[in-house]
Amino acid sequence: MTVMEAPLVETSMRGWLGEHAEMRYIFFGGKGGVGKTVMAGVTALELAKQGKRVLLASTNPVHSLSGLLGQDVFGKETAVTGTTGLWALEIDTRDTIDRSKKEIRDKIQWFLKFAEISTKADEFVEAAATNPAFEESAMFENMVDLMFKNEYDVYVFDTAPTANARRLLGMSKVYGLWVDKMVKSREEAQSLRELLSFTKKKEEDPLMTYLVDFRKRIEHARELLTDPAKTAFFFVTLPEALPIAVIRRFIDWFHDFGIPVGGVVVNMVIDPNESGSESEFVRNRVAMQGDYMGEIRRAFEGQVRAVIPLFDSDVRGVQMLGKAGEKLFA
Ligand SMILES: Nc1ncnc2c1ncn2[C@@H]1O[C@H](COP(=O)(O)OP(=O)(O)OP(=O)(O)O)[C@@H](O)[C@H]1O
Ligand SMILES: [Mg+2]
Repeated sequence: MTVMEAPLVETSMRGWLGEHAEMRYIFFGGKGGVGKTVMAGVTALELAKQGKRVLLASTNPVHSLSGLLGQDVFGKETAVTGTTGLWALEIDTRDTIDRSKKEIRDKIQWFLKFAEISTKADEFVEAAATNPAFEESAMFENMVDLMFKNEYDVYVFDTAPTANARRLLGMSKVYGLWVDKMVKSREEAQSLRELLSFTKKKEEDPLMTYLVDFRKRIEHARELLTDPAKTAFFFVTLPEALPIAVIRRFIDWFHDFGIPVGGVVVNMVIDPNESGSESEFVRNRVAMQGDYMGEIRRAFEGQVRAVIPLFDSDVRGVQMLGKAGEKLFA
């Protein structure tokens, strides 16, 4: 005897977005290759169809929006051919990295002079810039710039697979703490210097000004990113062990960071009725997916927004995105 189960999708993607009419920053995350770029594209297109001005932006250093849309969207906001109200952008961090290097060089130089240390700033700058977090910081900066510019009704972000996405957002908190510390030690250094100097004239401290501005920006970013009316993170998974484990972890982290989770999208599900049962291979895959669907039901109760079938081809081009949209926004 089977007990009637509640439907897996209680509140659909369409229903959920309908209940969150002010939603402005929508993120897609998950393990590599699960369909983040596709789901971000589908969502952006759907919102544009609803009459919104939408920017689909990729913060994944390994971009694939150009491939998805069949047009070059690297480095500049580009209207997506065959749509109205949709623009796409693969964020280019090269300029930001160069700019940050220069900014850091100026600050370090100023500081070395201030502290009367006769070393070249370049060594420090290179050390800082070869840090792998440097590119991520640049990405975060660019993303925040876009968010602050306020030129679109909705921003849909296609994020990087691994822990990057979490760091990208967690960074706002870490930055905040770091800057607080820096400001505090600057204040101490400054008052010590004032105490020791004979002239009581108060000097402008560019490093301090920078840190205070930076803190303001980060605080503003954190406000936006933790506002459940404006921001939501959606996680894409497959009915498989690893992608499920990854997003379970993500969801926990995001709760810790106070970043709102919009829900879970299950992708590439083989429809048992359509697959037939001639092949043992397919039968096994279907059975395996069935088990993991059970796990998804238990782990993400009430959070599953859509179940998308495995199509018989890749999802590419605006037309195919529209077709996938009929599933995501069923
Ligand atoms: N439901 C589906 N049916 C068939 N193919 C799909 C489906 N969803 C996505 N794909 C295809 O799977 C591949 C991976 O999808 P996508 O690029 O969106 O994943 P991703 O999570 O963004 O990957 P990455 O981590 O590399 O950024 C693409 O070729 C895409 O067209
Ligand atoms: Mg991708």
